Amino acid sequence: MLSCYINYKSIEKPLPWKDLLVEIGFGRGDFTVKLAKDNPDRKIIGFELSAVSVEKLMKRVKKENLRNVHCVRLDAYWGFYLLLKDSSVERIYMNYPDPWFKKRHHKRRLTKEDNLYIFARKLKKGGEIRIRTDHRPFVEFTLEEAGKLSAFEISVRRLEVEEPLTKYERKWLLEGKELTEIIMKKVKDPPERSIPRLKEVKELFPVKVEGKELNLRALENSQFQLGEKVYLKFFKFYEGEEGYLLETLLSEEGFLQKFFILVKRKGNSYVVDVSPFSEVLRTENVQRAVQVVAEEGFV
Ligand SMILES: C[S@@+](CC[C@H](N)C(=O)[O-])C[C@H]1O[C@@H](n2cnc3c(N)ncnc32)[C@H](O)[C@@H]1O
Repeated sequence: MLSCYINYKSIEKPLPWKDLLVEIGFGRGDFTVKLAKDNPDRKIIGFELSAVSVEKLMKRVKKENLRNVHCVRLDAYWGFYLLLKDSSVERIYMNYPDPWFKKRHHKRRLTKEDNLYIFARKLKKGGEIRIRTDHRPFVEFTLEEAGKLSAFEISVRRLEVEEPLTKYERKWLLEGKELTEIIMKKVKDPPERSIPRLKEVKELFPVKVEGKELNLRALENSQFQLGEKVYLKFFKFYEGEEGYLLETLLSEEGFLQKFFILVKRKGNSYVVDVSPFSEVLRTENVQRAVQVVAEEGFV
């Protein structure tokens, strides 16, 4: 049985569950806990970026002995993309998602078209996305993005909140703000489109380098573009007991991974591999990063 915390890097994907209730950006987890108690027969999954929020939810779940809640520390888009099967979600909740006020930051909004597309694919027909917000321009933005997909029947209403209030609800109600709820019911699948993707591999293989001298200094602070929207950057390298560790950052379609590449001496040759202490999502581009070190880090 999976524990409350799901480490998306090391489990078999996608998850086998269906009729899921998903909360995106659960913050302190008040709403998640209520959802779990109200629906003891359902699986609840929460996606959160904040490690502190994940810690807090795990503590509460343990204290209250809830067995149907799981949380993942991951951006919601990639969480849906990697972990959930198509048509496996009954309802998605987003309570007070960050509105990203400035126009140039709108592409970070949770309700941008690419995100709504992946959410729609994972929802079953008749399933819903329920969004609460205190920010009117965010409502307008969301309606515009959702309209592009022709997958939803949409309604907007003034929200009458019931206890328990989330941290933000309490604050805004005290300030006398008007709160809005957007309900998007999936009526059909959105037409297929090209979206950000990751290609996972089953295993990562070490690369052997023979007859060359080590020159990792040449890689420090260097950058490579491995493909469209795929960037690789190396920072410092360190000499450890095991060998040399090169700090690496990989950005694939905006999915970021930081890890160490280990270069180890073996007899007259070297072996380049992802450090066993770095846990990575095994993608084709992680393998290519190892390859780049084997090709460019030696003379
Ligand atoms: C304004 S808070 C609201 C928290 C909570 N829902 C509430 O009502 O109190 C927004 C939360 O969404 C999380 N978040 C923002 N973008 C996210 C993303 N792309 N994926 C998952 N969580 C995200 C943030 O870390 C933050 O905890």
